[in-house]
This record gives sequence, C-alpha cells and structure tokens, in this order.
Amino acid sequence: GSFENLVSDYGAGGEFHQHAGEGDERLTTAQGVTIADNQNSLRSGAPGPTALEDFILREKIFHFDHERIPERVVHARGFGAHGLFECTKAIPEITRAAPFQKEGKITETFVRFSTVAGSKGSVDLARDVRGFAVKFYTDEGNWDLVGNNIPVFFIQDAIKFPDLIHSVKPEPDRGFPQAQSAHDNFWDFISLTPESMHMVMWQMSDRAIPRSFRFMEGFGVHTFRFINAEGQSSFVKFHWKPKLGMQSVLWDEALKINGADPDRHRRDLWEAITAGDFPEWELGLQIFDEEFANRFDFDVLDPTKIIPEELVPLTIVGTLTLDRVVDNFFAETEQVAFCTQNVVPGIDFTDDPLLQGRNFSYLDTQLKRLGSPNFTKLPINAPRGCPVHNFQQDGHMQTSNRKGRVNYEPNGWGKGPRAHPLEGYVSYAVRNEGEKRRLRPESFADHYSQARQFFLSQTPVEQGHIRDALVFELSKCQEIEIRARIVAHLLNIDGALAQAVADGLGLTEMPEPAPAARPTRTDLPP
Ligand code: HEM
Repeated sequence: GSFENLVSDYGAGGEFHQHAGEGDERLTTAQGVTIADNQNSLRSGAPGPTALEDFILREKIFHFDHERIPERVVHARGFGAHGLFECTKAIPEITRAAPFQKEGKITETFVRFSTVAGSKGSVDLARDVRGFAVKFYTDEGNWDLVGNNIPVFFIQDAIKFPDLIHSVKPEPDRGFPQAQSAHDNFWDFISLTPESMHMVMWQMSDRAIPRSFRFMEGFGVHTFRFINAEGQSSFVKFHWKPKLGMQSVLWDEALKINGADPDRHRRDLWEAITAGDFPEWELGLQIFDEEFANRFDFDVLDPTKIIPEELVPLTIVGTLTLDRVVDNFFAETEQVAFCTQNVVPGIDFTDDPLLQGRNFSYLDTQLKRLGSPNFTKLPINAPRGCPVHNFQQDGHMQTSNRKGRVNYEPNGWGKGPRAHPLEGYVSYAVRNEGEKRRLRPESFADHYSQARQFFLSQTPVEQGHIRDALVFELSKCQEIEIRARIVAHLLNIDGALAQAVADGLGLTEMPEPAPAARPTRTDLPP
C-alpha cells in the first residue's frame, strides 16, 4: 500500500514529525520556497502560541480561505466534458459560420450540462429543466450555443427573469425548498404568468427527470439568424438529438436515485466517457425564412413557442461527440463562461426579447462570478481556433498585456491590430420601425394552444405522469387559492386534465377558466 512510506518520529527536541517519505516533487510555498515540515506550525514553546512569523502557515491558510467563488446565480450545479463537433453536411449557402463550411470539418467543443434551480451541492434528479451549453472553439472565434433540454421557456421577456428565478429558488425567509419547484412561491408566480403554461407542461412531463445527460435532447430555444457569405439571412432553430435516444426515469425512481446517489448524472457521464463509451448527439436545424415565418399564427420570436417539426423538418448537419473528461472540475467546469452574445460571423441574433436580455446577463454575471474581465484568458474560455489581438489591457489578474508603446487604435505608428471590414463580424441590417414603448406584440398573446398541442402529443401513460406531477407538486402548495389558479389555466389546456388534477387535489369547487391573456400596455395613462 500507499501507506508504507509513512514515517512518524520524535525529533531530538521531542517534536513530533510525520511525513510521507520521498515524493516526486518538492513541496513549496507559492513563492517557491521548499517546505521542510507541512504538519507542524511554528510555535514558541510546546505547545505555546503560534508565531505570527510562520509565513508558511499563514500563506497556506490564506489561500484556503479564498478558495470559494460565487456559484452561478442559476444553473449552479453542472457537469462538463470536452468533445468534438464534426460537420456531416456543409451548408455554406445558408451560413458562413466556420463549423458548417465543409463536410468532415472538426471543431473542438466544451459542453456543460446543469440543473437550473438547485445550488451547487443539490441532487441530480430534481424535477427541473436541464442546461445544455455548448462552446464551439471555431476558427473564427468562440460560439456558445447556450441551450436547455426543453425547447421553450417560462417567460417571453427577460425583464421577468429575476422574478421567475426568485420564485423557484428557496423561499427567502425559510431557505427551503432547496431544489424543487414544489412550493407556494413558484406556483404563485406561475399561476399569475399564463405565458409559462407551455413550458410548465414540459416541466411536469418526463422530460424534466432525464435518465442521464446522455439521454437528453438539447435546444437553442430562440430563433437565431444564419448569414451567408452574400449577407443573406435565414432564421434557424437548433436541436441536439441524442444518438442513444431519449429516456427518463419515473418520479419514484428519481427519489430513490437521489437518496442513494445524488451525483448520479455526473457519475454516469464520467463513467461513460472514461470507459470509452462516448455519448453522441446529432445537430439538427430548422431553417426557414421571414416570409414562411409570417405564415404561422404565432411569433417565431416568442420563446414560449416551438416550430412543429412537421412544418419545418430538421436538417441534420453534424455530430457532437463527448470524448474527454475534465482534468480539473474547478478550472474547467466551474470557470467556463458561456454567453449567448458569443457569436461568430455567420450567426446573428433576432429581436426575441428574452434573447436580447440574456445577451446582457451572462457577461455581466460572469464578471461578478469570476472576478475579473480577464476571465476570457482562462484556458477553458480562450479561443483555440484563432489568434486574439486587441488593445484591451490591465484589470485584475492581467497576464498578457501587449508589448511596446502602442495601446490604441487608430495610431500613426503603423502598429498593432486593425479592423477587417471584409472578414470581420457584421451585424445583419434589420429594418425596424415603430414607437419606443413597453409593449408586448399581439402575436405573443396565445399562451394555451401549444401547451395543449404538447399535452395531446403525449401517450396516455405520459399524460398520466403529467397529471401525477401536477397533483404532487401542487399538493405541496399550502395556499388553496394558488392550486385553484393553476387548475383555472389547465381548463384552457385540457378539460380532462384539469378535472383529474382538481380531483387529485381534492378541490371542492371547479374554478372558472383563466381569462385568455391579452398583451398589456403599461406605458399609457390609465
Ligand atoms: C446560466 C440557459 C434564460 C441568465 C445558464 C446556463 C444555461 C442557460 C444552459 C448554464 C451555463 C453554464 O453551464 O455555465 C438558458 C436558456 C434560457 C435562459 C436556454 C432561455 C431560453 C435566461 C435569461 C437570463 C439568464 C432570460 C437573464 C435575463 C443566466 C445567468 C446564468 C445562466 C445569469 C449564469 C451564467 C454564469 O454564471 O456563467 N442559462 N438561460 N438565462 N443564465 Fe440562462
């Protein structure tokens, strides 16, 4: 064994020594000074007070004291792995984005899967949405596809996000529940937010308790734009399809797994990859143009809607293979910084108001979480496929300021990087008109049709799981009024489901259906 080199002895002065024999390297301080004794602090007299002079003790404890950084404000619990994206169908006529230019083109990636609501130490099989964030280290910069395993979202506008997350996280007075949506605050908020009904149906379905990350789909959620070399734009939705197929567990199974192995999902991914059983996903695209989009009776910029695959089938363009676990969880999984605004030439945003807000939020929170604007220089975040040259300088933990006198542009010294009008990133020239108002378009107003469509697309067994989940979750709400408000929404989705949930909850009176929500204008005088 590994203990045979352990040596314990008393020195000549009676001091106790314990060390592990010869190692490969010398143990040093952060200043590089070799340490003679890593077991005993410097004391005057035995036992005696510890000497302030003990720089070895103080440096070691100082560093330990500062090991923690803030966990992510959402998606705190996650697990990452490295992989490769291989283009299997080139689409240069649709986008000039580097990963899609040539069949066989390989792009390095890093993926982080996560739950949303629980803290860093929460259980893996919570009933929750899963994050599916992919960083592509392309030849023209980093592109992050920061998606979820559910294709729609709870809200239509980023201004609601802090409230949504406050409501799902532990209640502020009692600090629980830690990792589930089954509580009054969450359901209170949801019951007053009819636009969340479509997402809630998915969240109550088997999708929210995946068997493992390897059996999950992923979605970019928003409609994005692809831009080709001629500057022409198409709309695109991104879908990840697991080659293993999609599988979930039952709620009772999830409870048992959480008890027996709260790390089940991260262990599963680690074990599969280290055993050489590399999980794979196909990347499918829904590509359509503005004219086609205008024919839908919903808005493709509304993130609470899907575009049915019957109307716009997927084009499979590549395969993602996760083939390497991290060397270090903190350095990679914890410090990786995904951001929806990380796009490359060929990919652009749309006016989806949730996406627009996300583009601000990620960079902003990462400065707080990682502590310095230089987090882009950490190996996990730095571009790999292309050089980085700019005049950004200084800031905490700077390690790579440019050499020489010139740190601005334009400069007459003929030195340093310059913008490149032809190959640089050009935003798509969208024509916008209208008044500046806090107004939600009429086209965002139908909150129930797709919720119904999803429910009816499920098998009877799956529909039963949705009913049971609603009854279980709502039975955790103490406030009867909240339960009734949710049933009032369910009446707009499916009458039989509403009745079954009302019966399951023992509601004595059936509420009136919720009024179909209309857009509200808050900037006009009453
Ligand atoms: C983190 C997805 C909406 C703010 C994440 C992560 C994912 C994700 C996958 C984890 C990233 C990681 O693993 O490091 C989504 C999706 C959304 C959505 C698919 C809707 C379609 C929003 C909105 C906001 C927001 C509306 C704010 C306005 C954040 C923040 C983080 C985060 C602050 C933490 C980032 C970090 O600390 O690195 N989101 N999110 N998200 N999301 Fe979202």
